[in-house]
Amino acid sequence: MKRSVIDTVDLTVEELDGIIKTAYDIIENPDKYAEKCKGKKLATLFFEPSTRTRLSFEAAMLELGGSVIGFSEANSSSASKGESIADTAKVISCYADIIAMRHPKEGSAYVASKNASIPVINAGDGAHCHPTQTLADLLTIHREKGRLNDLSVGFCGDLKYGRTVHSLINALSRYTGIKVVLISPDELRLPKYVREGVLEKNNMEYVETRDLESSLKNLDILYMTRIQRERFFDADEYERLKDSYVLTAEKMQLAKEDMCVLHPLPRVNEISVKVDEDKRACYFKQVLNGKYMRMALILKLLEDAQNGVAPTHDESHVIANKIRCVNPRCITSVEQELEHKFEPTDKEGVYKCLYCESEHKI
Ligand code: NCD
Repeated sequence: MKRSVIDTVDLTVEELDGIIKTAYDIIENPDKYAEKCKGKKLATLFFEPSTRTRLSFEAAMLELGGSVIGFSEANSSSASKGESIADTAKVISCYADIIAMRHPKEGSAYVASKNASIPVINAGDGAHCHPTQTLADLLTIHREKGRLNDLSVGFCGDLKYGRTVHSLINALSRYTGIKVVLISPDELRLPKYVREGVLEKNNMEYVETRDLESSLKNLDILYMTRIQRERFFDADEYERLKDSYVLTAEKMQLAKEDMCVLHPLPRVNEISVKVDEDKRACYFKQVLNGKYMRMALILKLLEDAQNGVAPTHDESHVIANKIRCVNPRCITSVEQELEHKFEPTDKEGVYKCLYCESEHKI
């Protein structure tokens, strides 16, 4: 098994800083990297629609001199014939050197990483994590602000299903002086496993509010998100919540002059196009930064694989098949033969599913 990245916690803060440093070097000296991955293949396994992330991975590998194979929808893969993720991962390991995978179920990339003999990068697993979007976010914040410490960061919109939010909060918990403002309707609050398991566990300062306008004046970063229609089981609830927040040019007048607006894209209507003209709008720069960071991550994981660096997650406390995960979004809900694996949390009698991180009490 090779070292994979399922979420940002799989990388130490030194490694995150190292990836950022490589990205800066790529920006300054692209020629130096043009042949670094010559002869290597990236497999992009996208079981769920994507434009940015898949093409960003593909562009990253091509700019490193490597090549790309893969598919962009579940219907064109053997998943439509009922193949398990484990088998797909084993098969692709015979064809490629590294995998980038997106899948609608939480924990799917973890399953792939356990079965592949090459590194797996999670390009989004359901509403769970999206670490390479976080790399794009971190480089953008660093380029705009010159630091990753001492920042007041507002997250606005769908904090429940927005996987990019979960991964960025995880990453920011490794830096100091971060204040988090969580702006969402009650129905779309940040999940408990992130609120308690990341913010509270790391003693991070945070507040929850429904009010975007009054939060704006204190923020260094505003991270807008799309209401994630595809994750709602109830279409009426989506209709009711879809227009919860719209950032307009008028609202931008309430914000600091150097506030930076981020959005992982695609945008629906949560940022008015008028805001694009504002110099504080950084979401298109974020796209370009994502490509540089994916280049840096691919390089790092291929290097680690070559040097035999082992996976970092300690699974010695895992209990298998004693509890069943009841999260309908977890990969264990559709792949019946997977072991149900849990590890203890800091709370008495509370265990966390290793795939989707939902907590279960026994
Ligand atoms: C995000 C995602 O897929 O989670 N998009 C992306 O990767 N750039 C956010 C979203 O779809 O809203």
